Amino acid sequence: MATNPHEEAGFYTEKLRVPEALTFDDVLLRPKRSRVEPDEADVSTRVSSNVDLNVPVLSAAMDTVTEAATAVAMARNGGLGVIHRNLDVEEATVQVERVKQADETIIRDVVTASPHQTVSEVDRMMAREGVNGAPVVDDDDRVLGIISGTDIRPYLEVSDRDEVQEAMTDEVITASEAIEPREALELMYEHKIERVPIVDDENHLTGLITMQGILQRREYSEAARDEDGALRVGAAVGPFEHDRAEAADEAGADVLFIDCAHAHNGDVIDSAHSIAREVAADVVVGNVGTREAARDVVDFADGIKVGIGPGSICTTRVVTGAGMPQITAIAEVADAVSPHDVPVIADGGVRYSGDVAKAIAAGADAVMLGSYFAGTDEAPGRVVTMNGKKYKQYRGMGSVGAMQGGDADRYLKEPDDEEEYVPEGVEAATPYKGSLASELTQLVGGLRSGMGYVGAPDVEAFKERAEFVRVSAAGQREGHPHDVVITDEAPNYRPDDVA
Ligand code: XMP
Repeated sequence: MATNPHEEAGFYTEKLRVPEALTFDDVLLRPKRSRVEPDEADVSTRVSSNVDLNVPVLSAAMDTVTEAATAVAMARNGGLGVIHRNLDVEEATVQVERVKQADETIIRDVVTASPHQTVSEVDRMMAREGVNGAPVVDDDDRVLGIISGTDIRPYLEVSDRDEVQEAMTDEVITASEAIEPREALELMYEHKIERVPIVDDENHLTGLITMQGILQRREYSEAARDEDGALRVGAAVGPFEHDRAEAADEAGADVLFIDCAHAHNGDVIDSAHSIAREVAADVVVGNVGTREAARDVVDFADGIKVGIGPGSICTTRVVTGAGMPQITAIAEVADAVSPHDVPVIADGGVRYSGDVAKAIAAGADAVMLGSYFAGTDEAPGRVVTMNGKKYKQYRGMGSVGAMQGGDADRYLKEPDDEEEYVPEGVEAATPYKGSLASELTQLVGGLRSGMGYVGAPDVEAFKERAEFVRVSAAGQREGHPHDVVITDEAPNYRPDDVA
């Protein structure tokens, strides 16, 4: 029998008959007949079984991306911030509480003054705490008066040693816990005041409502809020961190994210499953990159997070030789979980708004981004200037620096000795970008336009209607500005090779 000379020569082996896996740049959305205007596209989604978002975007659980300030900005603009876990449990809990309390109509952590403090002491205290007025209370927290900068100023000019009780307004307008925001505003307009202490039946201070707080809340009509109106927030927990999971759950986190580089591991799955049984919050399990992994967690997960090595600071693929190009990973996982109605979150590798559109078109319900937000004002860390340009630090949670901070178990390792770290990420810097809200506006604007090109009025329709075409290297080059010198920076485009 004649044999194929190539096969005989060993050119073909079963091992190397391999499937192809694709990522963002390999594909484009096929434009379709449409009646969807981008501004009308509905981008609301679900991040987990019980948590809806108005914008399908999450900020990554990384120590150079998400603490309370980022999470507050994300939720106010309709998305979700996930507090990182390179903080001790107590500090992480404080961060979660800060987000939950940020837009509370009734402030609980009230800055108060005592009647015997001097006006200059209270002046300094208010400046330190960033408030403009304070209820004056006795030793039993009973409200005696209220003092503001306006009350203090004339006293400071004459004698800064005068006591608060002389300068304060003692006919205080107070209200009970039952007061509605609209009633509180009416009360403030009627009496020309800016804050109303909330008291119980015996005049004990229980909270404070401010005009600024109420107006600020109205400004964010698209915010992601829970049933009580508090901002939504997520918290990362290590795969074996039951104590952190319990603390974050008690602090009011809406979604816990099992934070593991390879969740398709028997011990991780067992532990994540028991965490899911222990907490009231939704539990998103990740990261995974294959349909087999998705099937192994879908029965207990409230959401599944996808991404093995696509991140901008990741070296997982080069260090370990393992990984899955992100578009294929998303599509496989989405396909495997589709009968179960469990949301899929695409985590990592997004550089442009078009990548968000592709991720959702491939089957994701939401996307998580690190580098995109690391350069914003709200991200932890300061702005540094290098060669006349402004940057902020951005590092992988598998970098040596981050692992020293306590995140080595994300990579299922706990080395005793620093020299034993086998990092799967790098420490880097990313261009400084200004406010998170404007970055998010660009990202969501691009997504809406993508939905317009495909004729998808909402996220579900986008997933169903979208078709991809494969792009050649020449096609990729054609898709970026070419044969020109860019003279003005666009708010949503930076060439790949320019940091
Ligand atoms: P982007 O591309 O948005 O990716 O910056 C953020 C995501 O990357 C993951 N991550 C890492 N992956 N080594 C990795 O292999 C790391 O050191 C590392 N740190 C973060 C993580 O999923 C994040 O959301």
